[in-house]
Amino acid sequence: MTTKSSTEFARRLTDIAGEVSGFLDDRLAAAGGDAAPWPEKLAAAMRHGALNGGKRLRPFLVLETARMLGGDPKAAMYAAAALECIHCYSLIHDDLPAMDDDDMRRGQPTVHIAFDEATAILAGDALLTFAFELLADADNPATPNVKLQLVRRLATASGAGGMVGGQLLDLAAETTSPTEAEIMTMQAMKTGALLRFACEAGAIVAGADGETVSRMRHFGEAVGSAFQLADDLLDATADAAVLGKATGKDAGRNKGTYLSLNGIEKTRARCAELVEEANAQVAPYGEDAALLREAATYIARRDK
Ligand code: IPE
Ligand code: IPE
Ligand code: MG
Ligand code: MG
Ligand code: MG
Repeated sequence: MTTKSSTEFARRLTDIAGEVSGFLDDRLAAAGGDAAPWPEKLAAAMRHGALNGGKRLRPFLVLETARMLGGDPKAAMYAAAALECIHCYSLIHDDLPAMDDDDMRRGQPTVHIAFDEATAILAGDALLTFAFELLADADNPATPNVKLQLVRRLATASGAGGMVGGQLLDLAAETTSPTEAEIMTMQAMKTGALLRFACEAGAIVAGADGETVSRMRHFGEAVGSAFQLADDLLDATADAAVLGKATGKDAGRNKGTYLSLNGIEKTRARCAELVEEANAQVAPYGEDAALLREAATYIARRDK
């Protein structure tokens, strides 16, 4: 159903996607800073991986959480762009032959197809490190304490106990038969950790108190779980042309997922429950949280 808020959400997501892409476009063109100039081929591959579309949902969550809680929009943009660099790096590596071996991403050739495997690995590495350069940037107006908290939390969300660790467990799930609890942990790590960071980063930029940060963290965790269940549903049911990436990959690789254990209907129902859980976390903010609630609903029901 299209409501006033869902239309406003769609418009806001489009605006934010444009702003984030513009910011990244600028920053990735500034290439080099104090260091030696970036090799042209590497910069081109980084730009291919970061500026090839993408819904920019993680930046949306950072910016909208910060807006709701009164954070500085420019500091929020640095956090949002840093997170998106990590996300884009994770996609470049996820698509490599050693991992999911995908040729299409966001409707375009993946970075290792457009360039070559070594360049794709290095472009991912460079986007990963660039994320931390953005957080620590002298032009980032966040306070030193906020910057430090963001650096620590983004490193934790991205690393062995977060996205990277989850990616290892995800690949292992192609040859083992994980239980539902193991699958939910793997998904919380590979996908949930970055979505959780998005929401907690918005709160930290706004200088929110511990209880608020924890509320937004829980909102992000629930949204993160719903996000990956929706991704798995799309892998099984969507049109590759609309999705901009191959479908049927999980079943093709015999990957243990919540969907493979429980089927489509139960996965849809679990996704809807997670949206309820997420929305309960932001209930105290009333109308101020309307766009975050729309985001949670969209994440669970999206068609791409
Ligand atoms: C896809 O993420 C990868 C997962 C974590 C499941 P998105 O669906 O957010 O991808 P883009 O950024 O919009 O392309
Ligand atoms: C990827 O999960 C999660 C990441 C950390 C990149 P998938 O492998 O399911 O993502 P897609 O379907 O290729 O986008
Ligand atoms: Mg994968
Ligand atoms: Mg993949
Ligand atoms: Mg997938």
